[in-house]
Amino acid sequence: MENVTVVDHPLVQHKLTIMRTKETSTASFRRLLQEIAHLLCYEVTRDLETELIDIETPIQKMQSPALKGKKLVFASILRAGNGLLEGMLDLVPSARVSHIGLYRDPETLEAIEYYFKAPSDIADRLVVVVDPMLATANSAVTAVDRIKRRGANNLRFLCLLAAPEGIKRFQEAHPDVPIYTAAIDEKLNEKGYIVPGLGDAGDRMYGTR
Ligand code: PRP
Ligand code: URA
Repeated sequence: MENVTVVDHPLVQHKLTIMRTKETSTASFRRLLQEIAHLLCYEVTRDLETELIDIETPIQKMQSPALKGKKLVFASILRAGNGLLEGMLDLVPSARVSHIGLYRDPETLEAIEYYFKAPSDIADRLVVVVDPMLATANSAVTAVDRIKRRGANNLRFLCLLAAPEGIKRFQEAHPDVPIYTAAIDEKLNEKGYIVPGLGDAGDRMYGTR
């Protein structure tokens, strides 16, 4: 699939299997999401530019590579995006963070915004939007619309599970934004849940329902 990277790594797939299992506890679910976020973060940052800087080791001076340019922005779609965000920040602790509060109306499945905060200079930075689930893509499309309105023009979308319907809709709305995911599932059910999926990511992370 064009512009979609499936991070098909044995560790990711193993951890995802435990997350999908309905008996998995809230604590384990959260920890596994954070661990998978490390591996997804590794992929989404794979092509970041570096530059040589002058340093001195205890032995001698050398030129050594360091990340080039402005710090990244991780944009978390609340609530469940925060599970991925934690793991991303473990690897890139200096990243700036944007929060976009959205919930799905259970009847219409439209994404309703209740919170938005982003760095003012977001236009100069690479923005990685994170949310574990790309189902209808209403949330992801709305979040990326919002961030683009703030000025961002260099974005990536990172999730754990994607439905084919969500990928199609997202790519129609934002063809310039590459998608990174751990897996592409079969379909959506009549309630807009990913099948086979893992259920409601926010509820499983926080023990709500
Ligand atoms: C879930 C999930 C995504 C959204 C995906 O959030 O975390 O944000 O659904 O579905 P979509 O692609 O059809 O928009 P939810 O609305 O349940 O909110 P929550 O994270 O606060 O639980
Ligand atoms: N949101 C979730 O948390 N799970 C789904 O399967 C679909 C949307």
